[in-house]
Amino acid sequence: MNILAPTNDGSNTLFNEMIGEHYHSAHGALQESKHVFIDAGLKYAHQLYPAQDLSILEVGFGTGLNFILSFAACSEWSVPLNYTGIEAFPLSKETIQQLDYEKFVPNKIWESFIYNYENSLIDKQKLIEGTELAIIHQKLLDYKSNEKFDIIYYDAFSVRHQPEMWTDEVIAHACSFLKDGGIFVSYAITGNLKRALKKCGLQIEKLPGAPGKREMIRGQLIVYS
Ligand SMILES: C[S@@+](CC[C@H](N)C(=O)[O-])C[C@H]1O[C@@H](n2cnc3c(N)ncnc32)[C@H](O)[C@@H]1O
Repeated sequence: MNILAPTNDGSNTLFNEMIGEHYHSAHGALQESKHVFIDAGLKYAHQLYPAQDLSILEVGFGTGLNFILSFAACSEWSVPLNYTGIEAFPLSKETIQQLDYEKFVPNKIWESFIYNYENSLIDKQKLIEGTELAIIHQKLLDYKSNEKFDIIYYDAFSVRHQPEMWTDEVIAHACSFLKDGGIFVSYAITGNLKRALKKCGLQIEKLPGAPGKREMIRGQLIVYS
């Protein structure tokens, strides 16, 4: 059902035959992840809140590429990271290992991720360098929690292939887990997504997209008291 596929920057991704889409941009999995989630999301939040631990909610944990890059960045900054991924169809550890992402992060980061991957699907695990990982084996709409996050990585399959992940209801559900001042980033940008985020109280910005995409979106939840 998932086929290993190389992308144009030399990094691998998976092609999901049922959905008919790659897990990452075919122009480059690694460069998309760095551009959208690390640079526009994590680094931006770290600049806004430099003295703070960071918490991230990822919608669509998939291969864990966004996680390992976030883990490596936070480890470099000595920032404790609390990471929750929501994933309706978790991949096997063997599939993740085949992707060869270990070359993109220091060995200790990769080893800590792989060692804890399966247990993080059961409950939250303490990895090295103050990082915690929980992968919630659920559909986004079934996820209920009182926990709020500094950043949401919204990395669902595209609206063309999985429109149910982009409805106002689903976007509002995701945004209900953002802290005041929290950041939402996604590789996608559509009129409907912009409207849905504004309805949730987010101020939005269009940013240049990763190679192959003109634009991407970043939002910030502004709560007026
Ligand atoms: C574009 S891929 C994610 C790529 C991932 N962030 C990565 O770096 O590998 C979308 C992911 O969303 C998951 N997914 C599909 N429907 C979902 C749902 N209703 N709730 C949560 N995850 C879902 C898929 O199984 C897939 O792993």
